[in-house]
Amino acid sequence: MAILITGGAGYIGSHTCVRLIESGYDVVVIDNLDNSSAESLRRVEAIVGKKVPFYQNDVRDKDALRRIFTENRIDAVIHFAGLKAVGESAKIPVAYYDNNLISTLYLLEVMAEFDVKRLVFSSSATVYGLSKTMPLVEDMPLGAINPYGRTKYFIEEMLRDLYASDDGWSLALLRYFNPIGAHESGTIGENPRGIPNNLMPYISQVAVGRLPHLNVYGNDYDTVDGTGVRDYIHVVDLAEGHVKAVAWALEHTGCEPFNLGTGKGCSVLQLKDAFEQASGVKIPYVIAPRRPGDPDTVYADASKAKAVLGWEAQRDIAQMCVDTWRWQKNNPNGFES
Ligand code: NAD
Ligand code: WQD
Repeated sequence: MAILITGGAGYIGSHTCVRLIESGYDVVVIDNLDNSSAESLRRVEAIVGKKVPFYQNDVRDKDALRRIFTENRIDAVIHFAGLKAVGESAKIPVAYYDNNLISTLYLLEVMAEFDVKRLVFSSSATVYGLSKTMPLVEDMPLGAINPYGRTKYFIEEMLRDLYASDDGWSLALLRYFNPIGAHESGTIGENPRGIPNNLMPYISQVAVGRLPHLNVYGNDYDTVDGTGVRDYIHVVDLAEGHVKAVAWALEHTGCEPFNLGTGKGCSVLQLKDAFEQASGVKIPYVIAPRRPGDPDTVYADASKAKAVLGWEAQRDIAQMCVDTWRWQKNNPNGFES
């Protein structure tokens, strides 16, 4: 069984390649390296002891897609490729709609040409918008609040329409909560370009001295300690969720959303404390104003993924911090170290 992984050189894609290969699948990667480096795939190869066929192409290049489907017998696709920075998406929305929507449309067209109708799509908890009801359940109303989130919401709608038109498709819409952590080897992990937008890479870059202190965005939320609460999930648990979702897609037809989270909330200060515990490094912080658009609390009801996919997150916050620290300490400048 061969799985095409778009965006396979990226953070979640690289970890998923490892777990898929370890589960006996062949993988083929397409990535334009816009937000990643070929070094991550070399390290994936070192972990699994196997070459990973790699096409350095844009998913919006239909001829490149056709070449991949011609040269490889692809059984299913996992579509990670896309732009993902919420703040940037408000500044350059057209680039986000172009990359995320067009890549998905072209991918679906070429998949249909080659009669490959099994897709696992990287959606996001952001499609729930500013819901006040927690935990978030898959059948709640959707309502993204920024251009990035709307690209995920629009793609989900496209996939629902596609299935309504042809029930031979198998479409798993995976709504990730907050992925953090790194592979247990410490050789692959999250490698943001520039100053990180997300909390965990910010904390770990403070820990290695690349940034002076953490800015905690608001301490007056209605939460355990006033700081924002999120459902952090270990990236390897997420990768294992993709292995289960591919198996589901190979055996069923349907168009189904699945929350991939732990179901547990953790505040900014709780995550900082856990990281200090795991690393033995003090993380200085200052309280800064709230970040516009940030909800106070977000966590998943992950029971559907357990019931249907047989998947449940295994790793706790302490493990997420230990693994992030191993990666960051060994690679203070990411893949450029
Ligand atoms: P990432 O940026 O590390 O990985 C995305 C990969 O796609 C990168 O390697 C990039 O070079 C590649 N890419 C982007 N546009 C491309 C294109 N047009 N053609 C070919 N390659 C392209 O991001 P990630 O954190 O691994 O996220 C993977 C997916 O999961 C994204 O779709 C993201 O929106 C989604 N997601 C991420 C998070 C998160 O917090 N990391 C949460 C929810 C959803
Ligand atoms: C977590 C908490 C911040 C940075 C984002 C996207 C979401 C999804 C995952 C893709 C919040 C606080 C953060 C910092 C801080 N991505 N924080 N100081 O915003 O929950 O989700 O990534 O789909 O769509 O919106 O994650 O890591 O940015 O923030 O205090 O320097 O940490 O306010 O409470 P978020 P995050």
